[in-house]
Amino acid sequence: MKLSPSLLSADFARLLDEAQSVEGSVDRFHWDVMDGHFVPNLTFGPPVVNALRNKLRLPFDIHLMIDHPAFYAPQFIVNPDDAIIFHIEAQPDPSKAFRVIAEQGARCGVTLKPGTLLETIEPYLDHVSMVLVMSVEPGFGGQAFLPTSLSRIRLLKDLIGTRNIEISVDGGINASTIGSIAQAGADIAVVGSAIFGAADRAAAISQLRKASS
Ligand code: DX5
Ligand code: ZN
Repeated sequence: MKLSPSLLSADFARLLDEAQSVEGSVDRFHWDVMDGHFVPNLTFGPPVVNALRNKLRLPFDIHLMIDHPAFYAPQFIVNPDDAIIFHIEAQPDPSKAFRVIAEQGARCGVTLKPGTLLETIEPYLDHVSMVLVMSVEPGFGGQAFLPTSLSRIRLLKDLIGTRNIEISVDGGINASTIGSIAQAGADIAVVGSAIFGAADRAAAISQLRKASS
């Protein structure tokens, strides 16, 4: 199980230090971009994420909780293993988003709110290399994991079949929920408050590793 800490739960006044404080023991970084329209919260955009891109080694997963993701995606500076992940609800015709993200040379990911049917993204699985399963309603960190997410992860695993797609799960992941998503078939765990809210981050990370092995 790869760990992808969400910087939404980090100290925004010291984002680079916060990311560097865990960079040696995690696998990717998760950036929660919110526009105050698609979700009722406003965080950061391309200027902030781009400022850290060449200061950090690990791949970035850019989670776009915004309207018009195809318009904003090209504004992110990305490396080949970075993923730009957009909400299918914000881009009913996702072909433009697939095209612009492919032109950027990044990995393409799609995500959906807990209430959106998984079948909605089934026609597009040949265009993505990551699917982000939201296990909370998008918009805020520190929420409780939705147990209904487990059957969604299992169903998604079936829908993916033999395709080379990573399943990432996002929201309410901690030492007591990470084992269940690993068993259900998740490849990446997005963890915000359980890492950046922990008194001892190294201990929290090794607990997450142990609970998901
Ligand atoms: C919620 C975000 C999640 C969130 C995870 O809209 O997409 O990435 O920051 O934070 P925790 O792990 O605290 O639920
Ligand atoms: Zn997220």
